[in-house]
Amino acid sequence: MRPLKMIAEMSKATVHMKDPEHLEQILESIKDSGPNTLQVISDFDMTLTRFAYNGKRCPTSHNVLDNSKLISKTCQAEMKNLLNTYYPIEIDSTRSIEEKLPLMVEWWTKVHNLLIEQKIRKDQLTAVVKESNVILREGYQLFFHHLHELDIPLLIFSAGVGDVLEEVIRQAGVLHPNVKVFSNYMDFDESGVLQDFKGELIHVYNKREGALLNTQHFQEIQSRHNVMLLGDSLGDLTMADGVQDLQNILKIGYLNDKVEERKQSYLDSYDIVLERDESMDVPNAILQYITRTQ
Ligand code: TMP
Ligand code: MG
Repeated sequence: MRPLKMIAEMSKATVHMKDPEHLEQILESIKDSGPNTLQVISDFDMTLTRFAYNGKRCPTSHNVLDNSKLISKTCQAEMKNLLNTYYPIEIDSTRSIEEKLPLMVEWWTKVHNLLIEQKIRKDQLTAVVKESNVILREGYQLFFHHLHELDIPLLIFSAGVGDVLEEVIRQAGVLHPNVKVFSNYMDFDESGVLQDFKGELIHVYNKREGALLNTQHFQEIQSRHNVMLLGDSLGDLTMADGVQDLQNILKIGYLNDKVEERKQSYLDSYDIVLERDESMDVPNAILQYITRTQ
């Protein structure tokens, strides 16, 4: 069966393809190069995790903390206010990224400072994740296992909280050695209490693999010139910017929210747009196809 037909049939949701001919060329070229030339770069919140389940919104890695008993009621209310102020800006298709950038830094900085005030303990995170409603997308097992089996690196590039999302993946049993997380990690003092966040702040509009230049991960991926990129925000599109000698990039975008307003901008930027799809069916079908040996 032609790959695009198979891909469209794999999904229960609506699949949009910008330029089917070009897409087919990318798929064939990646397939011909073989799995050892491929890396997957993915966003975490609302890309690997579900946006909604049974009609209810699912939490982001930040929300896992906001909704938990680790945070005082006042702090919870402040975080909610910030979310209500800044999230509409994040997804506003009438504002430019340049305009949004300083506002995103402002949001993240305020939230991180609030979290630090709460004196969160490292040993409480496991329970908080267990009690949360965060859920990986349907079909995540196949996705993680397939990449692990073929030794394809999966770089998770997230503006969320690294410690929380790593725990989500660990509890789901798929934190395999090929998974590398690049995110905002908590810095705990010697008694295990949150005192700061490590390294440079990552927010939705400064995700670039160039940020990894000096990390060990970067050495590992230098020989991988084909990329499958998964995201749910227009900010996720730059995640592969630092990849050297990029040959092919296949961009898959989850369009979760404000579908009608944002559909055109997603179609302009992503090769495949998945409209209100809570599964990994399409990325899984593509991976199966491009890594098939015959
Ligand atoms: P991501 O890069 O893994 O998708 O994570 C970023 C998402 O986190 C972004 O869509 C906004 C969301 N977010 C919250 O839900 N609460 C917060 O307090 C902050 C700062 C971000
Ligand atoms: Mg996201």
